[in-house]
Amino acid sequence: MTDMTDIISNFKSNGQAHIFTHFDKLDKVTQDLLIAQASSIDLDEIAALHQTLIARRSEATTMSLDGLEPADFIPLPHADAGRIREWCEATAIGEAALRAGRLAAFTVAGGQGTRLGFDGPKGTFGVTPVLKKPLFQVFAEKILAARRRYDHNIPWYLMTSVLNHSETVSFFEQNDYFGLPADQVHFFSQGFLPAIDSEGRILMSAPGEIALSPDGHGGALRALVRSGSIARMESEGTDLISYFQVDNPLVRCLDPAFIGFHLQRDSEMSSKMVLKSNPEEKVGVFCEQNGKCVVVEYSDLPESFTQARNPDGSLRFASGSIAIHLLNRDFVKRLGGNDGEAKLPFHLAHKKVPHLTEDGSLHTPDSPNAWKFEMFVFDALPFAKNPLVIETSRADEFSPVKNADGVDSPLTSHQDQLRQFTRWLREVGVELEADESGLPRVNFEISPLFADTAERFQKAWKNLAFKPKIGTGVIII
Ligand code: UD1
Repeated sequence: MTDMTDIISNFKSNGQAHIFTHFDKLDKVTQDLLIAQASSIDLDEIAALHQTLIARRSEATTMSLDGLEPADFIPLPHADAGRIREWCEATAIGEAALRAGRLAAFTVAGGQGTRLGFDGPKGTFGVTPVLKKPLFQVFAEKILAARRRYDHNIPWYLMTSVLNHSETVSFFEQNDYFGLPADQVHFFSQGFLPAIDSEGRILMSAPGEIALSPDGHGGALRALVRSGSIARMESEGTDLISYFQVDNPLVRCLDPAFIGFHLQRDSEMSSKMVLKSNPEEKVGVFCEQNGKCVVVEYSDLPESFTQARNPDGSLRFASGSIAIHLLNRDFVKRLGGNDGEAKLPFHLAHKKVPHLTEDGSLHTPDSPNAWKFEMFVFDALPFAKNPLVIETSRADEFSPVKNADGVDSPLTSHQDQLRQFTRWLREVGVELEADESGLPRVNFEISPLFADTAERFQKAWKNLAFKPKIGTGVIII
């Protein structure tokens, strides 16, 4: 009882008494839930965020662009013999790390997927051309293939959120973890913050419920620590975390070359980039500022920068972030631990959030009424020793599912998967009729358990006793 009284009085003395206006009319279960929500909110943090980001927002939200230069990166080898050698060396180093069990795969899956308009955790969305395997299954099979190839356990950590935790866990349970050992798949929920109005008042989504939202994928650093995942990695000897988003079925979940370069250059955080497809593409851009590596989010990069060209006509700020990173476990521990909590900045988002009005009715606004706070994982880069950016091929590694239609949609991702399979087949001498973009006329599918790169496809195809004739509906497993 004392706890509850303390929590309520703390909210009252911090100008948040309205949270408990309807408390006495709630049933006991809802009262307990509200108290649990309230007790997890750090009112000092909310007040400080309101003070620094909202009350003084004209100065705080404009990122300084002084001294911003394009970041260096390790380019793809293409046909350069010297570079090919470097990539082969890096690959061998990465494969040795995989064989030694140093890697954990890590997916951030706590977002809402609002733009896709899909009701459910995004990882449960079906993406492959024929079987419509869900994103989670595609990643699970890539991890399973790597476990077999490197003959070692590769734990998979998934970060969920208050919005989708139990649905995500049940989905894996119902699907027998897609063939992975259940004790090698670890879920944890990220932190959350309440949405507030311009005066700093916390919004309620129902009489007994605070409007909460996840604290951004940057919250992964502290969630990895708080959930005990970092401690588990320490006890299991895993010291490298391969980070990827839930939306990209082409991702190489565990890429030996990437791992090898990261280790060779003694980097604490490495990232992959692709050349931007056009100035307006909605990806963050890798830059250098005052000797630090930073990502400037597309929404923060002014037109003069997005359109800037080099003398040869190419885009000057062209390194698009595809949100694939390698993080050293100890770096995450340093940034995500108690001492490091304040290090990643919060970004503001102004959103429409349905909320309870003073008379107790639910109001659905037509325009943004609420502020949400998010941390971004790429804001860890300036803190990293020897941060490294390496190029990857867009066609082979980036085709996210973000929007219901148009760019980065289920259709574009489906087509990009088909183009990739068609290229692999062409390299082993199987020609399929395709349009000029490389899109075949037939709809088929190659399982990640058969191959997930061109090189692996070549080997696996060679070993196939009976080569299937590729046509619509064919599945190569
Ligand atoms: C993101 C990056 C952008 C990058 C692009 C590449 C940001 C702000 N921008 O854009 O720089 O070029 O991907 O595809 O990240 N997530 C959580 N918890 C949260 C919020 C998000 O786990 O609180 C996860 C989502 O589930 C998803 C990923 O983070 O896996 C990306 O989130 P999203 O908000 O969709 O980022 P984008 O705007 O697509």
